[in-house]
Amino acid sequence: MILRTPRLTLRPWQPEDFEPYALMNADPAVRRFFPAVLTREESDAEIVTFQSRFAREGFGMLAAILSRPGPDQAPAFAGIIGLQTMPYAVPGLPQPAVEIGWRLPQKFWRQGLATEGATAVIEYAFNHLHFPSVVAVTTVSNTPSRRVMERLGMTYLPALDFDHPRIAPGHPFRRHVLYQLLAPKTSADRCFSHPALILTENGKPATASHPAGVGFHPHHATMSKAS
Ligand SMILES: CC(C)(COP(=O)(O)OP(=O)(O)OC[C@H]1O[C@@H](n2cnc3c(N)ncnc32)[C@H](O)[C@@H]1OP(=O)(O)O)[C@@H](O)C(=O)NCCC(=O)NCCS
Repeated sequence: MILRTPRLTLRPWQPEDFEPYALMNADPAVRRFFPAVLTREESDAEIVTFQSRFAREGFGMLAAILSRPGPDQAPAFAGIIGLQTMPYAVPGLPQPAVEIGWRLPQKFWRQGLATEGATAVIEYAFNHLHFPSVVAVTTVSNTPSRRVMERLGMTYLPALDFDHPRIAPGHPFRRHVLYQLLAPKTSADRCFSHPALILTENGKPATASHPAGVGFHPHHATMSKAS
């Protein structure tokens, strides 16, 4: 699964991504709404987890690569944008839920890149994976991330505010907000303003169903490969 937008390629993780991903995760500005920066080992372990989830589920958090960083420059690592099955339950939210997320190196902020990449991911989630909805979560004070959610047309559901189970009680970032986007009901509603070009691993355009043949059953707590 590879998604292309006007400026980004979103693709599965490669060995050359470990170093720039660790540099991004060591930046206190990038981690200012997280409890701590990540060590190299912690950052590497995240990529390994993304890779194994991708192999299991057929979708995942992807590396974002800036296609044309400038004249004569190589494509640049521009962060992480993608989908994952939520690794914990949120009270009141039907399980399994699929969340969309993003994190970019500081030099790429405020250029519309998170919104551009996330738009392609949402289009893929609805039109190819046929998910009924996606959610996004962040700590209450993370205005940039909440603005991305709002620009994507997601709806804030205050009744589902929750305490993040992996952040210690009393920590200022523990309280989280949840936004939801429902899949459009008609094909006319599915016209996205920046439709992504979706390619499979061999570079061919993807068919309408998910190329990995993954079946997602929103009302069952399982995710299985279609036979
Ligand atoms: C959140 C993040 C991915 C946003 O990426 P981005 O590419 O800068 O976002 P966009 O350029 O698409 O902008 C989307 C909206 O957010 C706003 N925004 C971006 N950075 C902002 C900031 N520092 N303060 C306030 N608003 C901000 C933009 O102005 C835009 O809103 P607008 O349409 O009202 O102008 C980026 O700030 C980031 O990586 N932050 C650190 C990691 C993080 O917190 N990830 C999210 C964890 S849940």
